[in-house]
Formats: sequence, C-alpha cells, structure tokens
Amino acid sequence: MSVTNKFKKQILCIGAGYVGGPTMAMIAAKCPDYKVTVVDINAARIDAWNTDHLPIFEPGLLEVVKISRGRNLFFSTDVDAAIRDADIIFVSVNTPTKTFGEGAGRAADLQYWEKTARNIVKCSGSDKIIIEKSTLPVRTAAAMERILNANDKGIHFEVLSNPEFLAEGTAIADLENPDRVLIGSQMNESGLRACQEVVDIYAHWIPRERILTSNVWSSELSKLVANAFLAQRISSINSISALCEKTEADVKEVSRAIGKDCRIGSRFLNASVGFGGSCFKKDILNLVYICECYGLTDVARYWESVVLMNDYQKRRFVQNMLRVMFNTIAGKRIALFGFAFKADTGDTRESPAIDIARQLIEERAHVVISDPEALENAAHDLGECGSSSVEYVGDPYKAVAGAHAIAIMTEWKLYMELDYKKIFDSMEKPAFIFDGRNILDHQKLYDLGFNVFPLGTTPLKHF
Ligand code: UDX
Ligand code: ADP
Repeated sequence: MSVTNKFKKQILCIGAGYVGGPTMAMIAAKCPDYKVTVVDINAARIDAWNTDHLPIFEPGLLEVVKISRGRNLFFSTDVDAAIRDADIIFVSVNTPTKTFGEGAGRAADLQYWEKTARNIVKCSGSDKIIIEKSTLPVRTAAAMERILNANDKGIHFEVLSNPEFLAEGTAIADLENPDRVLIGSQMNESGLRACQEVVDIYAHWIPRERILTSNVWSSELSKLVANAFLAQRISSINSISALCEKTEADVKEVSRAIGKDCRIGSRFLNASVGFGGSCFKKDILNLVYICECYGLTDVARYWESVVLMNDYQKRRFVQNMLRVMFNTIAGKRIALFGFAFKADTGDTRESPAIDIARQLIEERAHVVISDPEALENAAHDLGECGSSSVEYVGDPYKAVAGAHAIAIMTEWKLYMELDYKKIFDSMEKPAFIFDGRNILDHQKLYDLGFNVFPLGTTPLKHF
C-alpha cells in the first residue's frame, strides 16, 4: 500500500504560522487516519518545524507536534505538490492590514490569500474543499469561490469558513478543549456535504454540540465580532482605570464587583497598558471598514472608539511617567519588564510595549528592554531606534541596575517573583515602578522604598 493510500483523507494547510502550525499539529494528533501536510513559502520556517526548535513559542506545542510528526504530520515547502494531493485545504496565510491604496490602515490586505487561491487553481486536478482559516473580511469566501471556480478544468471548489479562536500562550488548551468550533458553509447540498466533512475532522475529539455550523457570512463575521467584543471589554475597563485614578476608586475592586454579575462575567476585565496581538486591532479596523463600506458610519465610529481608547491608554501611561518623574526622562535609564503582547508568548505583534518604548525614546530616555522570550522580536520592532537609545538585556537584575524606573509591560510570572529589595538597592533614587499590568504587590514595593504607580488606583509615593 502506498503511503498516501493508508489515509482516509489528505489535509493540507497553506501557511505554517501561529494559526496553521498549532491547529494542524492538533488535528494530526487527534486524527491519525488523516494525512496532514503543512506548507509554507518560508523555507526557514518549515525547517524549524522539522526540528525541536519550533519557529513559534507556545507551551505544550512541541509535545503535540512530536506525537504525529513523520507519522501523519509533515512540514514541507513543496506547495504545488501538496495542493495536487490534498482533498481538504486550510488556508492560513497572513492577512495584514493594508498599508497602501484604498482602505489603507483598515482593510485587510488580501494579496497573499488571492495568490494562494490562484495557485490552488493552477495545481489542482480534482475537486477540493477550501477552508478559510485566516481572518478575512466578510464575503471574502464568496470572492474566493469566484476566483477558484472560474477555472476551465471542470474542477469544483467548495469554500468554507472555519475561523480560529485560539489565543496565543493557551493555544494547545484552546485547540484541545475549545468553547466552540465554527464552520460556515453554503446552505446548498454540496456546501452542507463539505461542511459535514470538516465536522467529521473535529468530531474526532470535540463533543458534537460544541461544533457549530452556520452560513459562510455569519461564520466570517463571528470571528471579527468575537475579537471586537473582547477588545471592547479591555478598552472599557481601561477607560474606567483613568477615572479611578482621578477618584478614590480602585479599578481592581471595580472589576471584581462587576465581574461577579454573571451577565458580565469576570474574565477579560484586567486593566492594562493596552491590548496587543495580531488580531484585535486588525479585526476591529476590518469591521470598521466593512461598516463604512455599507454606509454605517455610526456603527463604524462606535467600534473605532475601541481602538482609539487603546491608543489613549498607551499615551496616558507615558504621559503619567513623564509627569511623575519631574517632567523629564531625558537621559534616564528606564527598564521595561516584558515586551511580548502578553505573557507566555514571544510574539510582539501590536504589543503596547512597542508604542511605549518609542514614546520613551522620543523623550530621549535610555530604554532597557527585558523579556524572557521576545528580545529578538523586540530588537526587530525597534530596529529604527538605534543602539544608543535602546538596550536588550535578558537578565532583569542587570536591566534595572542604575535605572530610574521600571515599567511592567507584560504580565510574565517571573516579574512577580523577583527580589525587589535587591532591585531597589541597585536603582537610582527616587526609584519608580509603573505597573502597567497590576501584577505586583504594591504595598510591599512601597514599603521597600519604591514610588509605586499602579493602573487605576491611587499611587503610593514617598514625596
Ligand atoms: C485573541 C483572541 O482571544 C482569540 O480568540 C483570537 O483567536 C485571536 O485574538 P490573542 O491575541 O492570542 O487572542 O490574545 P488575548 O489573550 O485575547 O489577549 C489580547 C490582548 O489583550 C493582550 O495584549 C492581553 O494582554 C490583553 N488583555 C487581555 C488585557 O489587557 N486585559 C485582559 O483582561 C485580557
Ligand atoms: P497567522 O498568525 O495568521 O498564522 P503568520 O504570519 O504567523 O500568520 O503565518 C502566515 C504564514 O503564511 C507565514 O509563515 C507566511 O510565510 C505564509 N504564507 C504567506 N503566503 C503564502 C503562500 N502563498 N504560500 C504558502 N505560505 C504562505
């Protein structure tokens, strides 16, 4: 029996990034009867997927990859051959926000997706199911369906939407035990048949009642709306953090009190220096753009305000630092603890730390960045800032030596466990801590001698 014949179906994923890699690793681990191939045009990425030094940092990922790599999970750069052999193709190439032309700064840049669609047509010799895994504007599936089915080979492509809801850092748990899986298809016979094929994959390990099916457009829109609602919660609580700082309220107490209302729920109510990550801003701006295209200006402005509030929170954080450090930070050494957009990931895309670092550098501070996983990405993000104004130091104790201030950017557990007495002793005085994630024991730091500026509550200061 040939290698290919021993499998029930052949699944291909185009794009071996944060979404494609972990999702396919989980499908391969749970579905040994399917052959799963992941391809990418980036050969270095594929090489890394074939080693134990995976191209992305995600707790538990290597263990899942190892279950099936070489058995029914394969990473390759041979995109054309993989397309030819596949029955089901997940497309998870990047869809950044457009930086040029119509919709610049808001609409999704679909060039990678369209290139992929045209390549699928070129390399295919049989009918296939094509699944949108990347976040795409609503009605992209319909456009792709037209490009794909405008072929003269008599091949039928059924385009489905299966948005990814996994969050970085918890991707493996999210994939293993998702709140729901959503599959959108056309409501005709071939659409529903294709939908069932994808349901069958997930039903290997996910209870059937958590696998939702809908029409394609509802599925596409649900992804954008889920992220918009999550981001909206953060902007809402961040707006309240500003109000708390002006009054005697404490945003943590407010979060706790409102979160006990089960209609509101307690998660995603931590005030922060701002949300980041590759999805939230992009998806909201996409939603805004779609609303504008349909003439829904008020709806567009409503969702846009979520992003504007996030920008305000980042600006406010730096303005506060500047104000309390006697209106000048020029020449002062400031240590940023964390650069990743959240803990347990090395990803820095849209990290609030990028904007904060840039603003501090603009004020001529000497910024020292420390992070257990994200230093390489940080150096890339701040490449234009030059080595005279920014340093990258893995060891947090070395990063703070001689510093005037520490700003917590990422809620890494390690920052809660440091010896702050030792840190205080090595810093310039007065020593400041700005806790952009509210993760530290503020009273204890104050007792050690720090001037402590949490988010959304009265600062603890010695002057
Ligand atoms: C998000 C969605 O959660 C996920 O479903 C979707 O598939 C992709 O986008 P992710 O970007 O990995 O996932 O991170 P998430 O955990 O949602 O956090 C996003 C940002 O919000 C981070 O910067 C995080 O620090 C911030 N955040 C989160 C807060 O500031 N406060 C909170 O209470 C929660
Ligand atoms: P996401 O977070 O959505 O997974 P990433 O940027 O991490 O996004 O990954 C997308 C991947 O898609 C990248 O590794 C990129 O090289 C790959 N890619 C982009 N265009 C193509 C293409 N035409 N064929 C194969 N892979 C592609």
